[in-house]
Order: sequence, then C-alpha cells, then structure tokens
Amino acid sequence: MKAEHPRFPAGADSLIKKHLTPKVYAALSGKKTAAGFTLDAAIRSGLENPDSSIGIYIGDKDAYPLFEKVLAPIIREYHKLEADPFHTRVHRDDFSPVSLPAPDPEGSFILSTRIRVARNLNSLPFCPHMTAQERVVLEKKTRDALLQLPKDLAGRYISFTDLGPENYDALVAQKLAFAKGDRFQEAAGLNRDFPTARGVFLSRDKGFRVWVNEEDHLRIMALSTNADLSAVFNRLAKGLAHLSACLKFAFDPGLGFLSSCPTNIGTAMRAGVHIRLPKLDRQRDRLKEIVARHHLQIRGTGGEKTAVDEAVFDISNALRLGVSANQTVRDLHAGLLEIITLEKNL
Ligand code: ARG
Repeated sequence: MKAEHPRFPAGADSLIKKHLTPKVYAALSGKKTAAGFTLDAAIRSGLENPDSSIGIYIGDKDAYPLFEKVLAPIIREYHKLEADPFHTRVHRDDFSPVSLPAPDPEGSFILSTRIRVARNLNSLPFCPHMTAQERVVLEKKTRDALLQLPKDLAGRYISFTDLGPENYDALVAQKLAFAKGDRFQEAAGLNRDFPTARGVFLSRDKGFRVWVNEEDHLRIMALSTNADLSAVFNRLAKGLAHLSACLKFAFDPGLGFLSSCPTNIGTAMRAGVHIRLPKLDRQRDRLKEIVARHHLQIRGTGGEKTAVDEAVFDISNALRLGVSANQTVRDLHAGLLEIITLEKNL
C-alpha cells in the first residue's frame, strides 16, 4: 500500500513542508535504514508542530544518504550553500587556536560567551532513535573518555539517572543541567526514557562542560562570564581534541559532523554571547541588518524560541557548513565589534 503524502497545516512555513513534495515523499516513504529509521519518524516533529522552522530530525547516520532527496534542498537553503553538500567536499575543518582582541574589554555589553559543538558516535543510532539501553552504552563510553581529560579540564560527571527529581531540579535552576526537551524535541522522540542516561560533565571551574544524551549524543562546550572569545574557543578545541581521540564521531566529507538536526551539521558549532544592548533594543531593525549581513542569528535571553528580556540578546553564528570553526569565531568577532560600535554611538 502506498503511504499518503502528509498534509502540513496551511499556516506552516517549515523547510520540510516546502521541500517534501508528493513526488519526493512517494520516493522515500517506503525506505528504512538498517537501524529501522523511517521518513515518517523524521518528519513527525514538523507535522505536529506547524510553527517549526525546519521540521525534520534524523535518527541515524545512514538516514542522511537515504533521505538525500529531501535533505539536500533543506541543507542547502538553511546553510546558504551553492555547492551540493552530498557530492562535494563542503565541510572545512579548522580548530586551530585563535587570538583575537577581546571585543568588549571593559565588559560593558557582553555578559557571557559560550561555544558548543554537537558530536555523535558512529556506532549508535542518534538520540531521536535510541533505546534506553543504547543511551546507557553511550553514557558509559563518554564517561570513560571524560575521566581521562587533561588536568585543567578534569571534573565530575553527574548522571541524571539516579539524581532524584529534587537534586535534578536544583541543578537545572543553577543552569548546570539541561531541561527535558521542548515540544519539538518531544515529538522527535528525544524525551523517550528521560532522564535515563542523560547527564552533564562539569570541569572543576565549570568552564568546560559536556551534555550527554540531549538532542545529540554529546554537546561539548566551553563558556565564560566575560567576552574573551579566543580563550573560550581555544579551551573548547583542547577538550574536543581529547574526546575525538577517544571516541569515533559520525562524519561525512561533504556534510561534516552529522547531527540529529540538519541545522547542526558541518562544524556543528554554535558560538555566541549574551549581550545587553539597550539602545539597539529600541532600533531592532538596525540590529537585524548587521546580524543578517554577518550571517548571525538572534535568540531570546532564555535560549531558542524565547523572548528577549531586558535588552539581553543571544547572538550567535547561524551557518555551520562550508565555513570552518576558526572562521566562524572570527566572523562572530567582526559582527560583535560592529554591533558594539553602533550601540556606543547611538
Ligand atoms: N525543530 C525545530 C524547528 O524546526 C528546531 C530546529 C533547530 N533547532 C534545534 N535545536 N535543532 O523549528
């Protein structure tokens, strides 16, 4: 029996709605990866959440080539690519250290800096398609690798499995643990068996952290409460180099590091700051113009899909494929300099 092309609600404006034509759906809907992941599972979040901007999540590395017909146009549009990432080596890898002057030396605007990368193991399905047992296997492998981190990054791993709701809530309130996924992630299967085998690694000074079993197997991040982008990037690069030597990550020469969301492939990096801009807050069009020109994005104070409170913007790179990690940080730096100069002069 032929499956019927899904009907996206009239108001929906997602990339999956745009690119999943009846013809493409008919070509792909009967396919399944070796791990059993299907197109219907991939698009569930976009169907249940008409306000999705992308609307597709990927359940294992083999789903990328299998669903190329629908993924290629989505990836090209999101990452603003000219070349076809499935058949051209588009990914550029460069985690060499940067040394940029601090963009806000007096700390008048930037409240914090955070850079993260997503990584997924080659050997397991991705988070939307994992069983509880597979999540436990991932947690064990990761914990072993984290135990061997160099001294300055060493710390402790806290598993949510046995934490108990009170201790877990306290960690979330301190922003040390990640919360259960939102409705987009829920529909993608990311909350299955929560909180089993989820957890966070915190270095002693908390400036290097790893989230385990959130939207991706690993979210590896460095952060600080100042504007020293270079120090944050270099610390991340060091921790990442160690983990990459211990674990085998899913990677494709065209698509870069694979991730459960096609927005997060490539460098899989999001480098951003929280920045207070009271004047530009009242002239948001001017801020938006600079942000667009530098290929940056604005998120709300509380993260993705939240509002901007008290003029505190989360500004970060939007593109992750076709631009190296090193270049991404330089571009963010250039954009921030322009934003801060304008804010000062208004
Ligand atoms: N699935 C959501 C949407 O399509 C989020 C996409 C990007 N964010 C993410 N965390 N993967 O709007």
